[in-house]
Amino acid sequence: MNDRRTASLPTSIDETLALLQGGGYVADRALATVLFLALRMKRPLLLEGEAGTGKTEIAKVLSAALGRKLIRLQCYEGLDLASAVYEWNYAGQMMAIRLAEAGGASGDRANLDRTRLEGDIFSEKYLIKRPLLQALEPQEGGAPILLIDELDRTDEAFEAFLLEILADSQVTIPELGTIRAAEPPIVILTSNRTREIHDALKRRCLYHWVGYPDAARELAILKARAPQAPAKLAKQV
Ligand SMILES: Nc1ncnc2c1ncn2[C@@H]1O[C@H](COP(=O)(O)OP(=O)(O)OP(=O)(O)O)[C@@H](O)[C@H]1O
Ligand SMILES: [Mg+2]
Repeated sequence: MNDRRTASLPTSIDETLALLQGGGYVADRALATVLFLALRMKRPLLLEGEAGTGKTEIAKVLSAALGRKLIRLQCYEGLDLASAVYEWNYAGQMMAIRLAEAGGASGDRANLDRTRLEGDIFSEKYLIKRPLLQALEPQEGGAPILLIDELDRTDEAFEAFLLEILADSQVTIPELGTIRAAEPPIVILTSNRTREIHDALKRRCLYHWVGYPDAARELAILKARAPQAPAKLAKQV
């Protein structure tokens, strides 16, 4: 069952503001502008800022408001392709090989079967798709939101690898070839800036620094998130 409602992309900055507001997210105009442009230009959006300023939340709110699937890749030190993109199901492949061996073909037929077996075990049937590959597949309601969270926790090698996905919405799997998204996912990357993100990656994204909210906006956030709180208490907080 799918009760997700789908909405079309906003056509103006005001609409973007309203969309976020409707999802309980209080954005300033600068953030709404860069988000609107990212959606319009189909470019990834890199959000940097201090902890707790609403970087992750914006992807969640956008997913709910647009009725798109949210695919999240939480980054950490040592994150590799097997966890981020794809992995072969080795156990399944071994089983297929054993079964084929047990089938006991001989001579020319064995050669023929070997080629077929190779094609079979390196097919989608034995491919385990991780978030980045999932994000390239068509989803109900349109291209998904791909949240690549806390990018600064990964190493530079992983960043370099992301370039192909961000620039061309494609990944290359040596045994299968290049897999390209028919419709590019809406990509949001976040970073706490514990280290600098490489320029090559920044060039492929629109960028916005999410600062701490001022008192008025903090009060608005509190009102949106905890409407049951009495006005006096909210002000004091
Ligand atoms: N502008 C905002 N409007 C509404 N809620 C907000 C806003 N900013 C922050 N919040 C609230 O603050 C909480 C923390 O935000 P979030 O997890 O997105 O921070 P973050 O920037 O991703 O932090 P970190 O860098 O630690 O991951 C969210 O659960 C959300 O409810
Ligand atoms: Mg976060």
